[in-house]
Amino acid sequence: MTNNEVRIVEVGARDGLQNEVPVPLAAKQELVESLVDAGIKNIEVGSFVSPKWVPQMADSGALFQQLCRVDGVDYMALTPNLKGLQAAIDAKASEVAIFASASESFSQKNINCSIDESIQRFSEVMALAKQHNLPVRGYVSCVLGCPYEGEVELEAVARVAAQLYQLGCYQISLGDTIGVGTPDKAAAMVSAVAKQVPVEALALHFHDTYGQALANINACLPLGIRCFDSAVAGLGGCPYAAGASGNLATEDLLYMLHGQGYQTGIDLLAVAKAGDSICKTLGRSNGSKVAQAVLAKTNK
Ligand code: HMG
Ligand code: MG
Repeated sequence: MTNNEVRIVEVGARDGLQNEVPVPLAAKQELVESLVDAGIKNIEVGSFVSPKWVPQMADSGALFQQLCRVDGVDYMALTPNLKGLQAAIDAKASEVAIFASASESFSQKNINCSIDESIQRFSEVMALAKQHNLPVRGYVSCVLGCPYEGEVELEAVARVAAQLYQLGCYQISLGDTIGVGTPDKAAAMVSAVAKQVPVEALALHFHDTYGQALANINACLPLGIRCFDSAVAGLGGCPYAAGASGNLATEDLLYMLHGQGYQTGIDLLAVAKAGDSICKTLGRSNGSKVAQAVLAKTNK
């Protein structure tokens, strides 16, 4: 990758739809396939978690089975434990993600165990993933604040990120789960983590609850981060973080990055059309200002 190439991980079908009203399997399939047609190369398709905890993701296995896959695209899944990983292997996910938290309360609410217990659990997941040659991504939630504890210490973020990296995750995605960060704090957090994990192995996963995600990313680009997670049309939130609105909209991120001379290989208008279609299915308005603008132009 050259220095102006940016990797986007599209999380709308997972992080987005896990917190929306349930949609039919066919609509999920159409969403994933149209995003891949738009040039997305890394896409979270779903998660293998307890259907009692997140019923919206209960059909992830069926979705993986049904997808028409394109060579060179990573079809990713969240796997909290061995049971989830086995399901992801059976569904032929090409990459999986484990997810920890920098805050104890969020860890308990989200995955029903302490941070230390989660790391223990994830080491078993990593061992099985390694046997199957599956790349594993690691998430750290609550890197800029926790819905239950408020401020989160930078040392806690850096410690959990380093633990996941040492377990063998090829990349650590730092999640502002409730979108409370501001640019200087985001940059300080990245600098703290980068002392323990190489910056090339970091990604940012910012929810846009307070409308700060783009500004925060802009503050972190000069630090060398070249991978960002986003959700088409700004879908979603997190079921265990009340008030967390969707991730940063992919369309908004693409517009900013392309305008600043970065390359993503993704067609903004095609992403906006995919987002528009799923918003119609969900009966919700489009959470991306850029999508609204580019779609209004094409509808003239
Ligand atoms: P638990 O209840 O402690 O698990 O949940 P358990 O091992 O005691 O099992 C209880 C039941 O769940 C059993 O079924 C298991 O078989 C079943 P029962 O005998 O009662 O019928 N079970 C499973 N079923 C399907 N798939 C599995 C699985 N594991 C157990 N993998 C568990 C622990 C981790 C499973 C649960 O807490 C859970 O599913 N949590 C997931 C919550 C979640 O998906 N949160 C959203 C994703 S994270 C996120 O959005 C943040 C992120 O975007 C980054 C950011 O923004 O910060 C990534
Ligand atoms: Mg998230």
